Amino acid sequence: ERPDALRRDLVGRKIVVSAGGTREPLDPVRFLGNRSSGKQGYALARVAAQRGAEVTLVSGFTADLVAPAAVDVVHVKTASDMRAAVDKCAAGADAVVMAAAVADFRPTTLATSKIKKGAGEPDTIPLTRNDDILAGLVEARGDGRLPADLVIVGFAAETGDQHGDVLTHARAKLARKGCDLLVVNAVGEGKAFEMEDNDGWMLSADGSESALEHGSKALLSSRVLDAVGGLLTPRTG
Ligand code: CTP
Ligand code: CA
Repeated sequence: ERPDALRRDLVGRKIVVSAGGTREPLDPVRFLGNRSSGKQGYALARVAAQRGAEVTLVSGFTADLVAPAAVDVVHVKTASDMRAAVDKCAAGADAVVMAAAVADFRPTTLATSKIKKGAGEPDTIPLTRNDDILAGLVEARGDGRLPADLVIVGFAAETGDQHGDVLTHARAKLARKGCDLLVVNAVGEGKAFEMEDNDGWMLSADGSESALEHGSKALLSSRVLDAVGGLLTPRTG
C-alpha cells in the first residue's frame, strides 16, 4: 500500500469525507447512537491528504481517533448537524465521500429534563426520519445547486437476508441513492464494525463492479480514491 499512499494524484482537489456515527439526543443524558468507530472515514481522509488533496473531515463520534495530519476536521453531533456541515463543504468540493454512519431516525421530541422512572414513564420512543444527506447531495447536483461534475460516494454495510444477498441489496441501494460509487462492506460474523480489516465490493453507477481485496482500511481507502480519481473531471491548463 505504500506506493499508492505516496502518489500525489489528488493535488489541487478538494475532498470532503464524513466519518463516525451521529448521536440523536433523547434527553439531556441519553442519545440514540451506533457502533461506527470512524476508522474507515479517518483512513480515507488521511490517505486522500497524503495523495495531495485538500481534505475536510466531517466527523461524528468515533472511537477516540486522532485527527489525521493536514486535514481540516469539523466535529458534529447529530445527523442534522452533519447535513449542514457536509452541505456547506460540498459547495466547493470535487468529491464527497459519505463514510459516516448517519442515524436514520431521531427521537421526535427532545426532553428538556431527564426522563425519570415512575408515573408518566414512556413505554415507547417516537422516532422521526432524518434527512438523507447523500440523497440530498445527488438531488442538489441534479438540479444545479451543486456542480454537475461533483463526485459523490456512498458506503453501505449490508447483510444478506430472505430478500437477497449482499450484492443484490447493494445494487438496489446504489440505484436508489443515485451516487457515482457505492462501497459495500459485508457485515455480520464480526466483520467491519470495530475491526482493523475490511472487505467488500465497489459498485459504480456505470454498472461496473469490483471486489475489494481483503486488507487494511488504508488499503481500501487507496482503492476507493483510485476510483474517485478516475471520475474527477480532468484539469486543463
Ligand atoms: N446516509 C446519509 N444520510 C442518512 C443515512 C445514510 O447520507 N440519513 C449515507 C451513509 O453515509 C452512506 C449511505 O447513505 O454513505 C448508505 O447508508 P445506509 O444506512 O446503508 O443507507 P440507507 O438508505 O439509510 O438504508 P438502510 O435502510 O439500509 O439503512
Ligand atoms: Ca441507514
